[in-house]
Amino acid sequence: MGKATNIVWHKAAVTKQDRQLQNGHGSCVLWFTGLSGSGKSTLANAVSAELYRRGMNEYVLDGDNIRHGLNRDLGFSEADRTENIRRIGEVAKLFVDSGMIVATAFISPFRSDRDQVRALFEEGDFIEVFVDCPLAECERRDPKQLYAKARRGEIKDFTGIDSPYEPPVQPEITIHTDLLSVEKAVEQIFVYLYRKNII
Ligand code: PPS
Repeated sequence: MGKATNIVWHKAAVTKQDRQLQNGHGSCVLWFTGLSGSGKSTLANAVSAELYRRGMNEYVLDGDNIRHGLNRDLGFSEADRTENIRRIGEVAKLFVDSGMIVATAFISPFRSDRDQVRALFEEGDFIEVFVDCPLAECERRDPKQLYAKARRGEIKDFTGIDSPYEPPVQPEITIHTDLLSVEKAVEQIFVYLYRKNII
């Protein structure tokens, strides 16, 4: 496929700032990253539900769901994961531009991929949330029985088993889901959003 040429960026009539003003809150991406079973989706959904309850504009982009549609052509090789994260980054950017608080729940195992996504955003709009949970605990939870399958060799390139996970170096937020309840974790994230005047 060739790259498109002769395309010109159109300036929008309504800006992100206009939408934020109308919404009465800021927009940002809460980029949850962590091992399978660490609690990314649970937290992203819990934060989103609380934002919704308070009347704010939110949305969740979730790995399993996006891989059913937009990214159904992608697998779990290093190159496919990189493309997966690149696309989600671009989609998240559109959501942030539309004035939403978007929570993304992808393993996003590679630091360079996450940093590339960060680079798409204005300072402060990309909030990396490290869902820090020891592999042993994720494997004990094993909600989808995927670790068991990976250990039996029935899934190849499984993150934490035979595919790497590179933890963030300076995430904006770290949540220890093996030590904290979902409610406490949501509170921790809300404190951050308040402190940064996003909500
Ligand atoms: S990535 O690495 O960010 O591109 O992955 P992501 O899009 O978040 O998809 C992760 C979910 O896919 C399921 N799954 C796998 N995960 C990791 N490695 C392999 N090989 C794999 N195969 C399938 C798994 O259910 C992941 O969901 P979560 O919610 O993380 O458990």
